[in-house]
Amino acid sequence: MAQEDLQLHMTVLMTPDMANFAGNVHGGAILRLMDQVAYSCAARYASCYVVTASVDRVSFRRPVRVGELVTFMASVNYTGQSSMEVGMKVVAEEICSRTQHHCNSSYFTMVAVDPCGRPVQVPRLVPVTLEQWRRHEEAQIRRRLKYEMEQQHKELMAQLDALPPGNYRMSSEVEYMQIAS
Ligand SMILES: CC(C)(COP(=O)(O)OP(=O)(O)OC[C@H]1O[C@@H](n2cnc3c(N)ncnc32)[C@H](O)[C@@H]1OP(=O)(O)O)[C@@H](O)C(=O)NCCC(=O)NCCS
Repeated sequence: MAQEDLQLHMTVLMTPDMANFAGNVHGGAILRLMDQVAYSCAARYASCYVVTASVDRVSFRRPVRVGELVTFMASVNYTGQSSMEVGMKVVAEEICSRTQHHCNSSYFTMVAVDPCGRPVQVPRLVPVTLEQWRRHEEAQIRRRLKYEMEQQHKELMAQLDALPPGNYRMSSEVEYMQIAS
């Protein structure tokens, strides 16, 4: 599969309407654009309407400033039956100096759905280049880890449900884990 079928880049000028109280760009404005890029990348790949099923952790490495050009680089890394992992790198460029900063990277799971919202099959991604293979393998590991974490979470919740009332407090899962261990 050609690289251009898997990838999508979008560059946006950060305007004052995106600013937070500190005068930098609001994190939510960046997240919104990331979701739009993930949607476009996955929908174009699948030739189908897609929804965001999950987003991996997003850490902002530095503030994005008003006046900077921000480029969102997205790539379909992996396909399941109906889901696609879209990897994304966000880079901000100070226009006059052309200095670039890596702002964050994240992984979106997008699911192709029919008009009733039911998952539908997507074309299978067969990696060709070394880069595509690397991304594909890493996405598989992330998918497996996510599944294992969900299973552990379910088991933990089942143990919690089985405890007699009063033996635990539900204020936080971390607290419960401390009691259970
Ligand atoms: C995503 C959604 C379509 C999945 O529907 P579902 O009935 O759970 O379908 P399934 O259990 O058959 O899962 C379908 C695929 O989605 C994946 N999936 C479901 N929930 C997921 C999650 N939380 N994270 C990652 N992948 C997920 C499954 O792994 C599966 O992948 P595969 O087909 O490649 O194996 C459904 O949960 C949904 O509509 N969610 C809301 C999406 C949305 O509105 N997003 C915007 C929020 S404002």
